[in-house]
Amino acid sequence: MQSILITGGLGYIGSITITELYKAIGKQYKIIILDNLSNSNIQVLDTISSIIGEKLDLHIVDIQNYNELVEVFKKYKEQYPINYIIHFAALKAVGESVENPIKYYQNNVVGTLNLLKCAEEYKCQNFLFSSSATVYAPGEFVDEEASFKPSNPYGETKVAIEYLIRSLSKKGGRYLCLRYFNPVGATKDGKLGEMPNKPNNLFPYIEQVAIGNLQQLYVFGNDYNTPDGTGIRDYIHVLDLAEAHVVALQELIKKDQMNENYYDYFNIGTGKGFSVLDIVNEYSKLVPIKYQFTNKRGGDVAILVANPNKTKDKLGWIAKRGLQEMCQDSYNFIKSKQQ
Ligand code: NAD
Ligand code: WQD
Repeated sequence: MQSILITGGLGYIGSITITELYKAIGKQYKIIILDNLSNSNIQVLDTISSIIGEKLDLHIVDIQNYNELVEVFKKYKEQYPINYIIHFAALKAVGESVENPIKYYQNNVVGTLNLLKCAEEYKCQNFLFSSSATVYAPGEFVDEEASFKPSNPYGETKVAIEYLIRSLSKKGGRYLCLRYFNPVGATKDGKLGEMPNKPNNLFPYIEQVAIGNLQQLYVFGNDYNTPDGTGIRDYIHVLDLAEAHVVALQELIKKDQMNENYYDYFNIGTGKGFSVLDIVNEYSKLVPIKYQFTNKRGGDVAILVANPNKTKDKLGWIAKRGLQEMCQDSYNFIKSKQQ
């Protein structure tokens, strides 16, 4: 049996993707998790086990450590060779990346380089990478051919890795970059969601207001060139995002089995933009969200929304869940964590 290595598999998107992947192909492949716990908790493994009914192998390894990483490939070589990699592991706090670019390049770029070196050594040529909409300049209905224009070191690391992947793909193999827009929400049972140590993004802040840990949300700017003056983004339910990974991996598997080379990159968004006030209003149908306008946040843009058409046409994937469901599942999750 072949294995699928999931780096960063105890994190927000990785853990939820694993549960969806297991449902889809968990009997055909061994799923191996690798994480250094820098932004996750070991208890997530138990939660995953309780959902899927099986305890998966976990390696607490830092991808910056080549020697430890290569041991993982070696361990499975005979019985369960690693033939597919879904690479979630990365640091992702934009502000921190501005403060400490070396840490971000070291963790994200050097870490990925190590991973791809191991993959090459162990003849694993099927790679699915978590890229980000942050590689683009702001815009409405941004398609995949838009130029790279990251505005912070975190985004630069994603661009650097995309270039590395593009170069490698020319030697053969199968490589996919998924550029996520703004993932939000949680699983229906409220068991898996985002639990940042320090909230950076809109939904984690709103969740803290929703359960009374914060008095109000600070809305960053009300004079953007948008209908209500607040920033517009393409929020995508994390379950839709997880399903996109299942579809993308199945595509890689198909191409691998046909021994075809493959390289592509896709937006993973809904194509619909919502403003900060749209989110506050929708969430307030569940629980009142007090807010106050404050200054714009450095580096923020007015609008960033995906054109999802290429993904629909070539991968056959579209997001199914709307804003109401994103808010409802986010609220269920944070309430269940509070108890
Ligand atoms: P997360 O922080 O919840 O998960 C990342 C996981 O990777 C964590 O469990 C962390 O401990 C692990 N990790 C980090 N560095 C590591 C290292 N050096 N070695 C081993 N493990 C390491 O983040 P997430 O939201 O689940 O994001 C997953 C991926 O998606 C990341 O690559 C991120 O850049 C990308 N992405 C996220 C968003 C978002 O808004 N959440 C948007 C676009 C892209
Ligand atoms: C959304 C909107 C804020 C918090 C970030 C990364 C991006 C990607 C996704 C990884 C903006 C406003 C927010 C608050 C607010 N991550 N806001 N008050 O900035 O679109 O994207 O996460 O790849 O790289 O930059 O997401 O959730 O931080 O902000 O008013 O307390 O909410 O100004 O308009 P963003 P976000």
